[in-house]
Amino acid sequence: MNPNSLTIALSKGRIFEEALPLLKRAGIEPLENPNTSRKLILPTTEAGVNLVIIRAADVPTYVQYGAADVGVAGKDVLLEHGGEGLYEPLDLEIAQCRLMVAAPLQRGATRGRLRVATKYLNITRAYFARQGKQVEVIKLYGSMELAPLVGLADYIVDLVDTGNTLKANGLEPTEHIADISSRLVVNKASMKMKHARITQFVQHMAAAVQAKS
Ligand code: ATP
Ligand code: PRP
Repeated sequence: MNPNSLTIALSKGRIFEEALPLLKRAGIEPLENPNTSRKLILPTTEAGVNLVIIRAADVPTYVQYGAADVGVAGKDVLLEHGGEGLYEPLDLEIAQCRLMVAAPLQRGATRGRLRVATKYLNITRAYFARQGKQVEVIKLYGSMELAPLVGLADYIVDLVDTGNTLKANGLEPTEHIADISSRLVVNKASMKMKHARITQFVQHMAAAVQAKS
């Protein structure tokens, strides 16, 4: 184990785009663009530092098991995962949105148990349990906004930023569950074994966040 090596897990798209300037300020630039490259391990300008490009929901798992030392993940994904085996030392203040309950603007009276469609099963079950409400939670993998339109569910739990997606589908937010942004997460064992390298990386990223705001 090279105590100076660092494997950083992050997802393509929004998180990659928004994390890139922060990584750059921290002195780390990928040598290839994951949007055009088919490679899943991207070397960077810093020797021993690699980016692994994975699905957003897989980032906590890679970091939990030490397949990556650190990662960038949305708070939504971390809440759903539970955070086992992870430190969460830094709010990167990127990919900001809210996790909300939403429903059709025009909704009739519902009978029986409410159905809630979401990809966030754990968060949704815990949220409604805290409210003392018994709901049936239906797992979906995307396009949650469709579910109430076709009678699959009464409510959805999904991310809201501008609100345009809800509006375009005749839905409105009804309850706020959590404010979301992306966090830096660290494998607990890596934190011990590569303490100096990871502490330095976290400090550089914290300075990059500060410089941006
Ligand atoms: P995949 O593409 O693998 O299915 P995904 O759709 O969750 O995953 P992204 O859309 O890139 O991937 O979302 C990654 C993270 O960005 C989310 O976990 C959330 O924290 C944040 N996010 C998602 N949608 C928005 C949005 N509209 N505005 C701001 N942040 C968002
Ligand atoms: C996310 C989220 C909502 C939408 C909310 O989807 O799942 O559908 O953004 O943003 P808005 O309030 O600004 O409309 P995204 O655009 O990332 O597409 P995805 O479902 O493919 O991840």
